[in-house]
Amino acid sequence: GFLAGLAAACTVPLAACAGRSGSPIPGPATRPLPIPPLAASTVGPDGVRRFTLDIQQGTSEILPGKRTPTWGYSGSILGPTVRARRHETVAFTIRNAVPEPTTVHWHGMHLPARFDGGPHQTIPVGGTWEPAWTIDQQAALLWYHPHPHGGTEKHVYRGLSGLFIVDDETTDALDLPKDYGVDDIPLIIQDRRLTADGALDESDPTDVGLLGDTIVVNGIAGAHLDVRTDRVRLRILNGSSGRIYNLAFADHRPFQLIATDGGLLTAPVTLPNIQLSPGERAELVVEMRGGEQIVLRSLPIEQRRDIDRAAEFGFDDSFDILRLRAAQNPKPSAPLPVSLATIAPLAQPGTAPDHTFELKWFMINNQRMDMNRVDLTVPVDTTQVWTVRNNDNWPHNFHVHDVQFQVLDIDDQAPPPALSGWKDTLYTEPQRTYRLAMHFAHHSDPTYPYMFHCHLLLHEDHGMMGQFLVLAPGRQPTPMRMDMPGT
Ligand code: C2O
Ligand code: CU
Repeated sequence: GFLAGLAAACTVPLAACAGRSGSPIPGPATRPLPIPPLAASTVGPDGVRRFTLDIQQGTSEILPGKRTPTWGYSGSILGPTVRARRHETVAFTIRNAVPEPTTVHWHGMHLPARFDGGPHQTIPVGGTWEPAWTIDQQAALLWYHPHPHGGTEKHVYRGLSGLFIVDDETTDALDLPKDYGVDDIPLIIQDRRLTADGALDESDPTDVGLLGDTIVVNGIAGAHLDVRTDRVRLRILNGSSGRIYNLAFADHRPFQLIATDGGLLTAPVTLPNIQLSPGERAELVVEMRGGEQIVLRSLPIEQRRDIDRAAEFGFDDSFDILRLRAAQNPKPSAPLPVSLATIAPLAQPGTAPDHTFELKWFMINNQRMDMNRVDLTVPVDTTQVWTVRNNDNWPHNFHVHDVQFQVLDIDDQAPPPALSGWKDTLYTEPQRTYRLAMHFAHHSDPTYPYMFHCHLLLHEDHGMMGQFLVLAPGRQPTPMRMDMPGT
């Protein structure tokens, strides 16, 4: 628990306290929050929206005055925000100019498995990958990140992560804050640890992975946001390896949760705080009065049932993430709509599961990831119920590729409001059983699998992952063979 003691006395961003990096930010000075640029695209006569991403090395100023070698997509850290509409066809040219093979996975996206960007779609050093698909899901905040076999944590930690915003007509028709970078603000929240000379410290992982003492938002520590409207929408991604955040405002003001991983809730939900484990997203709207300043913080984790060594895993930490400074006369925003989207239930609570997953000892159902083993097959165009049980006394979460799921029940109880919408990643408390419903629509492939895994990236890299094929009727699986690079 190297953070626990130090965070208690700290009311400015964590990096401002003298942590292990030994290079505190002076005083309360902050820098303006960088907003990832929107990715440039061109639409040809075929109607396809084309993007280019270059995976490259660079140098970033995560802490003021320190030069940190980092990796980024078409930049030195993170990546541009890709934005496209439902029913649009998107195509990417992705070039790998970093010195290691990697992949680009579209987290939360429903798409053909061979373009999913999991560990089977390696882009060699100097190589190019050109995935293309038609977007067919509701508006949501998704993201893209590396997924190489056994190496995801390091590649994400070095800076490779970007957002992918899907738009649709339902969302267009709603009076929500939607001016990107003005009243609709993306926040990629991560933790890092820097060495004295400013390099990213990749050593000393805990059993939940790398935990940093420097909180970084959109690539910098100690950020502030100038808010010009009286309601601001924060689209938040927990892009950390293993750190779980319990987000709240320091003055305890409630906010409205409007969307989770896969899109809008049925109606805004007023909450005082929300927990996000690695990979999860939340969209919230907060109101501010002219001239005031508020601080987005992380509080100690509440869901700590049966967790061993909670302090070591950062569960006791509390620290500031972002200061928001309202203009003297903020522009009035429309009140939030009372209803947002329709979510048709995929299955009834209590439905018998098609598959069951036990999380225990860094394994799923007592097995570690094998790229040449298909763990299950799913018939295309079916709805399935999966149950997931965390039988460890350690934190885990559960992510499924290709689908957005609904949480039917947790230990036979209805899920809380924050889990009432579309999810693709779910925190699992020890000794609880989660029943999920998901629909596998119209992309089948006997060769390329999708993944399910713990999204604590160290656990994923250590093999807490499995593979499934979505099969058309009568098809036999013909899974691709793949050498397993050493882990
Ligand atoms: Cu965000 Cu399989 O991952
Ligand atoms: Cu895990």
